[in-house]
Amino acid sequence: MTAPYGDGTRSVRAGEEAPVPGAPLRPSPVFAAPFHLGDQPPREGGLDAYARTDQPTLREFEAAVGELDGGRCLSFATGMAALTAAVLAFVRSGDRVVLPSDGYYTTRMLGAEELARFGIEVTEVPTPEIERVAAEDGLAGVAMVLLETPSNPRLDVCDIAAVARAARAEGALVAVDNTTATPLGQRPLELGAHLTVGSDTKALTGHSDLLLGHVSTADDELFARLKGFRDRTGSTPGPFEAWLGHRSMSTLDLRLARQAANAAAVAEVLAGSAAVTNLRWPWRPEDPSYPLAGRQMLRPNGVLSCELADEATVARLLSRTRLWSAATSFGGVHSTIDRRAQWGADAVPPGFIRLSCGIEDTADLVADLSAALDGLG
Ligand SMILES: Cc1ncc(COP(=O)(O)O)c(C=O)c1O
Repeated sequence: MTAPYGDGTRSVRAGEEAPVPGAPLRPSPVFAAPFHLGDQPPREGGLDAYARTDQPTLREFEAAVGELDGGRCLSFATGMAALTAAVLAFVRSGDRVVLPSDGYYTTRMLGAEELARFGIEVTEVPTPEIERVAAEDGLAGVAMVLLETPSNPRLDVCDIAAVARAARAEGALVAVDNTTATPLGQRPLELGAHLTVGSDTKALTGHSDLLLGHVSTADDELFARLKGFRDRTGSTPGPFEAWLGHRSMSTLDLRLARQAANAAAVAEVLAGSAAVTNLRWPWRPEDPSYPLAGRQMLRPNGVLSCELADEATVARLLSRTRLWSAATSFGGVHSTIDRRAQWGADAVPPGFIRLSCGIEDTADLVADLSAALDGLG
C-alpha cells in the first residue's frame, strides 16, 4: 500500500497484495508443518518447505504488522519470545545492555535471571532518566539499549529520537518495546530505533484470547540475523495464532479509538475522586508525560494508572464494580483493573492500580466506576 491511507484503512489492508480474481479477501489459515517440495530445490523466499522457518499464513500477518511499523516484521510465539530474540540475537558475552528499571517486570527478570547467566552485563535505568544518561555519555560501551515507552505500569515516556541519536553515536543498537502504544500509536523505527518490539497479546490483537509477539526492523542485515535466531531457537508462532492475530488486527483502529475515548472519560472520573492520587495518562494535559507524548506519539490508547489508599481499598473498589474485571494484561476489549503490587515485582505502593479501558460504552464504564468510587476514600 503506497497511498497515505488512514489508520482504519491500514489496519484492514496493510500487507495486502494486488487482488487476484477468485482469491479470498483474507486467506484462510494453512496449517501444514512440512510442504511438498516436488522436484524443485528449496530456495530462500521460494517454495514453502517447513513452517518453523516460513509459511504463508505467518507471512501474510507479518507483512501487515511490518507495514504498520514501517519495516519488516518477524512474529514470535509471545511478546517475551520477541523481546528475548531482539536482545539475544544481537549481543554476546561481555556486552552491556541497558534495560528500563520501571518496565515490564518479566523483561527485567530476563535481564537478571537469563542475560546475566550468559555473562551479559545488565544496567537498569528508569525511563524518565534514560535521556539524561544518554546525553551525559552514559551509553559509552553499551551494545544495546532497550526502551519501553510508555513504560508499564507507570506510563512514563522517554524521547526515542534523542536516545537513538546518542546510542547510534556510540554504536549501540536501540530496541523499543512499543506494546502500550501499538504500531498505530508510535513508530519507533521512524524515530531512529533499530528494532521495534511488541507483545501482540495486548492491544494489537486485543481480544485476550491469544499470545503473540513481534519484532520489526527496517535494516535487512538485522532482519536476517533475527530470522536466523528465530529459525534456530524455534519461537515461531503457529499458523492459527497468526491468522487470528491478522483477523483481530483489522479492528485495531476502531478498538484504539474507543479505548482512548473511554480513557479520556475515565481519567476525568479518577481525577475528580477523593479516593484517587497520582493519576497517570500520558494524554492528559496535566500529566508529566503529556508534552513528549504529544510530540512523539501518534494517538492515545486506553491504559491509565493511579493509586488508591491501600490493598483493602482496591478490593472494595473491585467488589463494587460490575464492568471492571480484576485481571492482568491490558489492551483488550474488556475493561480491567490490575493491582500491580499483588505480583510482588513492580516497585509500586499496595494501592497502585493499572486500568485498561475496553471498548464497552463510555457512559456505562463511567457510571459503573463513578458508583464504585463513590464514598471509597
Ligand atoms: C510492555 C510489555 N512487554 C512485553 C510483555 C510480554 O508479553 P507476552 O505476555 O505476550 O509474552 C508484556 C506483557 O504484559 C508487556 O506488558
